[in-house]
Formats: sequence, C-alpha cells, structure tokens
Amino acid sequence: MVCDRRPEDMARITTPELADAFIEEQVAAIREQVGDKKVLLALSGGVDSSVVAALLIKAIGDQLVSVHVNHGLLRKGEPEQVIEVFRNQMKANLVYVDATDRFLDKLAGVTDPEQKRKIIGGEFIEVFAEEARKLEGIEFLAQGTIWPDILESENGIKAHHNAGGLPEDMDFELVEPVKILFKDEVRVVGERLGLPHDMVYRQPFPGPGLGVRCPGAITRDRLEAVRESDAILREEFAKNGLAGKVWQYFTVVPDFKSTGIKDGKRAFEWSCIVRAINTTDVMQCTVENIPYELMCHITDRITHEVPGINRVLYDFTPKPTGTVEFE
Ligand code: XMP
Repeated sequence: MVCDRRPEDMARITTPELADAFIEEQVAAIREQVGDKKVLLALSGGVDSSVVAALLIKAIGDQLVSVHVNHGLLRKGEPEQVIEVFRNQMKANLVYVDATDRFLDKLAGVTDPEQKRKIIGGEFIEVFAEEARKLEGIEFLAQGTIWPDILESENGIKAHHNAGGLPEDMDFELVEPVKILFKDEVRVVGERLGLPHDMVYRQPFPGPGLGVRCPGAITRDRLEAVRESDAILREEFAKNGLAGKVWQYFTVVPDFKSTGIKDGKRAFEWSCIVRAINTTDVMQCTVENIPYELMCHITDRITHEVPGINRVLYDFTPKPTGTVEFE
C-alpha cells in the first residue's frame, strides 16, 4: 500500500531498526505499485534523490533508469561520486549526460541572476526530457519529494512541482517513496541503504549549483576558480572538524580583479570570498566564527593553489541583510 500522508502517530525514524522497517515496507509498496514496469529518476547526487535511487534499486533493480545530468556547475568530484556509488557499487542502470558545454554556451555573457537561474532550470528540463524520450517503456517517474515539501505546498509557501516541470505530453505516474519522511529520517534511511556518510549528510547545495557562486557572466576559468577554492574549503573544514558543525560553507569568485604580487611580479587577479553560515530555518543566518589561524591557512592554500586568485576575503554578513547565496 502506498501511504499518501504521514500518519499523525508515526514514530520519528531515528534508529537503524526503524529505518530497516521503513525500507522493507517501501520496497513492498514500490514493487506493488510498479510491477514489472520501468521507472525514470533524475539523480542529482543530492540527499533526497540519492536515497530514492538506493530504495528503488533495492526494490526493482534495473527496472530503474537513473539519469544524472552534469550541467557543468557541480562541485569538484560530484559527478564522479554519483558514477562510482550508483553505477560501480550499486550496479544501477545509470545514464550519465555531460551537458557542460550546452549549459555554459547558453549562459555565456548572461549577467542577470534571475535570467541565469531560468536558463539553468529550463535547460535541465530539456536535457532530462530528451533523455527520457530516448528510452522506451517508461511509465513511472520517481521523485525525492519529502514531507516538508508537501506541507509547504499545502500552506502556500512554495509550489511543489510534480514531475519537475516536464513537458505535458510526458505523463508519468509518480513514485515518491520518501514523501512521508522528514530530512533527518531520509538521512538515517540512506545510511541503512549503504550510501556513503558524506553523501547522506552533505550540506545543502542549490539546484543552479556553482552558477550562483560565479556572480555575473560565467566564464570557464572563473568557474574553475570557484570549484577549486570550494574543494579546498571543504577539505579544510573536514580536516578541522567544522564540516559536521557548520550548516553551509562555500566560496564565491566575483567578476572583479585587483592588483597583487605573485613570485615578485604584478598579479592582476580575482578575489575569492569565503562564506560560512549557521541557521535552523534558513530565513535568518549567523556567520560562523572560523578560527583566525585556520582562515590564514585557507587563504594561503587558495591564493597559492588556485590559478587566478590573489586575495581571499571573509564574508561577515548575516541573513538579513545578505542572503546565503550571492545570486
Ligand atoms: P538564500 O540565498 O535564498 O538561500 O538565502 C537559502 C538556502 O537555499 C539554497 N538555495 C537553493 N536551493 N535551488 C535550491 O535547491 C535554488 O535555486 C536555491 N537557491 C538558494 C541556498 O544554498 C541556501 O541553503
């Protein structure tokens, strides 16, 4: 039986035993709903879609076709991790689409933040729909909808887009196996399904990806500077015990240059901004107090290891007046 609403008296899934019971129940429900038909899933590598993929692989194996669209705005190592975990370890039927050139060509010269977001969202649906049309016999679309999405949609806070805005002729029946769970429960279930801890407990990452951290018109070299500096920041936070403590942290490389010195020569290069915030509801955020010595070490690494960066700045702005992201 597919359960549409979270029962009022449902115990919070906090233990491996409760997670196992939920998994068993959902595996049976998925098999009953889907039968021997095929299911399509947009697998971003985020927590919710990854857990849905793992659940469906357990329930129906290669009747699930997962499509991972790399829009070129993912963090360092992300597409590789999706391929390693799902294709190599879980033996998933995974279609990997490297659409980097397509996205970056469309974004070339576009400076308006809302326009950039529209292009990324619209192109994503187009690439996914194109892949879906190449496949035969798909009747179901799996989605990582969770219980807060449904509550927010019912309360008019945000529209929960069923089928993610796919063209109307693509009329799939939905499979939403984690839709009665809260985020913390999705994580417990994900770990029991064998997903790596860092994938299940990763910090939030926006759909438009690094595109909103490369303010102004995105260029490949500046995007690379965002990706490399972000990887250094994440590595240092993990090494220094901050990764599980700070809610969200990343780097931004705006489109302006300043004069500096490298190897005794003038270096006219970009600045990299470090942002690290804490919050409970993301409506208001405070700034993490990164230890001074660690900040100096991160600065040293970024300015010496990332081509094109000669300064590192620390964003002290809470939300409000800032938002978390720059665009
Ligand atoms: P802001 O910048 O609005 O961000 O203060 C609040 C939180 O939302 C994330 N964010 C997004 N997540 N798609 C997403 O899935 C988006 O377009 C998007 N924009 C911002 C942001 O990273 C932060 O956690």
